[in-house]
Amino acid sequence: MSSRGNWGSRVGFILAAAGSAVGLGNIWRFPYITGKNGGALFVLIYIGCVIVLGLPVMLAEFALGRATAKNPVGAFQAIRPGTKWHYTGFLGVLTGVMILSFYSVIAGWTLGYCYKSLSGQLAALGKGQAAALFRSFIASPWQLILLLGIFMVLTVHIVAKGVSAGLEKYSKILMPALFLIMLLLMVRSLTLPGAEKGLLFYLKPDFAKINGRVFLEAMGQAFFSLSLGLGTMLTYGSYLGKKENLVSSAAWVAVLDTSVAILAGFIIFPALFSQNMAPDQGPGLVFAILPVIFAHMPGGMGFAALFFLLLAVAALTSTISILEVPVAFLIDEKKWPRRRAAWLMGALAFAFGIPSALSGGGMKFFSRLPVVHVDFLSLWDKVWGNVALSVGSLLIAIFVAHVWKTANALAEITAGGVSFRLARLWVMAIKYVCPLLILVVLVSQFF
Ligand code: PHE
Repeated sequence: MSSRGNWGSRVGFILAAAGSAVGLGNIWRFPYITGKNGGALFVLIYIGCVIVLGLPVMLAEFALGRATAKNPVGAFQAIRPGTKWHYTGFLGVLTGVMILSFYSVIAGWTLGYCYKSLSGQLAALGKGQAAALFRSFIASPWQLILLLGIFMVLTVHIVAKGVSAGLEKYSKILMPALFLIMLLLMVRSLTLPGAEKGLLFYLKPDFAKINGRVFLEAMGQAFFSLSLGLGTMLTYGSYLGKKENLVSSAAWVAVLDTSVAILAGFIIFPALFSQNMAPDQGPGLVFAILPVIFAHMPGGMGFAALFFLLLAVAALTSTISILEVPVAFLIDEKKWPRRRAAWLMGALAFAFGIPSALSGGGMKFFSRLPVVHVDFLSLWDKVWGNVALSVGSLLIAIFVAHVWKTANALAEITAGGVSFRLARLWVMAIKYVCPLLILVVLVSQFF
């Protein structure tokens, strides 16, 4: 195992796993999905999904990864050799490359906005101007492809360097700084005139807004935000020593991740409603409103530059965890050198990212696909960021509970004398609640 690399410390592991979880999923995706699905009630269902589905699946991934010390494909093979279960791992590898592709496009947006803050283009923008700037930005193909490329090279470079040196170092200092800026932004947003309407939208459930799609989106968002369903947490767990406490690590990651998402909502919605802007405008939501908040702050452009830079770093600690999945697969199973694996998978993700980069207007075809009538990025976000992660989580839950068996998983979780008081609840959740609930929500989409 030492040849595969290992975490330097327990705190290092939690920070790296939290670094994987906290990213654009919390600050870009959570607000726009919440806005699209009607606000407060969605938030409640989302938190329910984190507790009932997310935590149990995260623990299952940690346990499976640490028990086998393998990548997702190898882990299933190690426990059930000669069966088709390792296709779950392949699905994870594929999902990883696809999520990395469009995720890096959004990360490129944050780099672009960091540059715009520094060069003064974001200074003193009103809401109409901020929205117009964003529209022209996402319609400029070469710029977006360049930013995508820059971000992908950064990701590949870190992953190529290896586990503790590469992944751990970056998660430690910068995330608390991001959190501090977000607190500041929240205060500014909450004190804008008319902010109460946003708070109502965010906190007061409206039961008329419920439908089947809300459940799918909440569930998918929970898996996406917690980095579950493609084997990221499994892979991170595989670099973990037996002494570590998987239960408290999972709890920490979920609490940190969910706090950042909830905080992001407290920034976006008060400001949005104070400007009378629509909450359901889709993936551009955050980029259309944030410049307006910064414009209302003294020293706003400095804060803007710092915020977008730190957001890019948060995205980077997530993309390295996504890329680690296909890379660990090639290293373990195909005996590739780490460098070559990282560059090849990064190049693939870059190629698949190009249609997403062109889907904001850069190329008509990708801005509105035939048949489905949405843009490529939204489609990819839905198919891989939502459905594929839900299917992956479903398969992981079934495998751990019914193939590997909960007794074996529990033995792994409590190895080294770790106490797990909620063990019976976890067994119930992973055996029955997770598989049934995920299946019902997925299947209900077809009716
Ligand atoms: N959880 C990350 C985020 O919220 C994204 C991610 C998804 C990372 C899946 C790994 C696996 O930004």
